[in-house]
Amino acid sequence: MKILHFSDSHAGGAPDNWTAYFDKRLVGIFNYKFRRKFQHNQRLLRKAVEYILSSDADLIVCTGDITSTGQPDEFKTALETLYPIIGKKNLIYVPGNHDFYVYNSRCVDALMQSFRMLNGNRFSLSDLPLNIRFLDCDFIMLNESYPTNLLSSCGYVLRKDSEKILRILSKKRKNPVFLIGHYPLIEKHPLLRVRHRLWREKELLNLLKGGMIDISLCGHVHVPYFMETLPGGRGEYCAGSVTKNANISEIIFNESANSFTHKNIRLIEPQNLG
Ligand SMILES: [Fe+2]
Ligand SMILES: [Fe+2]
Repeated sequence: MKILHFSDSHAGGAPDNWTAYFDKRLVGIFNYKFRRKFQHNQRLLRKAVEYILSSDADLIVCTGDITSTGQPDEFKTALETLYPIIGKKNLIYVPGNHDFYVYNSRCVDALMQSFRMLNGNRFSLSDLPLNIRFLDCDFIMLNESYPTNLLSSCGYVLRKDSEKILRILSKKRKNPVFLIGHYPLIEKHPLLRVRHRLWREKELLNLLKGGMIDISLCGHVHVPYFMETLPGGRGEYCAGSVTKNANISEIIFNESANSFTHKNIRLIEPQNLG
């Protein structure tokens, strides 16, 4: 089983509706115009798509933040770039905090439609957490992203969601279990990142540390990294931002050795990142 994992491409743009001037999108658009636009190169997402199309990966995982403020035009831009792999590769997607940014109905509709499309029209966002069994591996998809106040980029694990995941895991299993979420469960700097972290994550983190969850795949942090929790390549893999750090993660499950190997695939050389 070979997985390619990418995250945080952050398509952005101008306000596409007057209502954007009256909610958190104004902050996000300002942020995009003066900072994010210069950090995230959408050409790298096109390169990632080319790489994915030429690969023999069994599954493609996107852990969210495909937009900057969750506006319909941003989803449209992201989907246009991802279009060659939609329906052609086995793809699963969970939203990031920038994809579910505000409760504006146009934005929520765009997220819901994009979620369905990216996941092959098999289920809706409200169906999460959901366990997808694929090639004898279990992939638990979790949404941790909800609109928050102007200054927060935090995510939340709802109690009902961690309870449902416990129920999924309580059924006897021998398959490897992947948790697919936007936020890292392991927070190295909980105080420093108090405005950016995941809350109510402890129960899931204990499952990862205890081996009930083998692998956590996440994004949100834009620099890729791996944190080992147990031998055999078990732990948390953050793909980083594909458009900022030109990185895709490759994770291979070796059934006979019951272990995982990982490598970062650089789409361009680091010195050319600019
Ligand atoms: Fe992000
Ligand atoms: Fe994020």
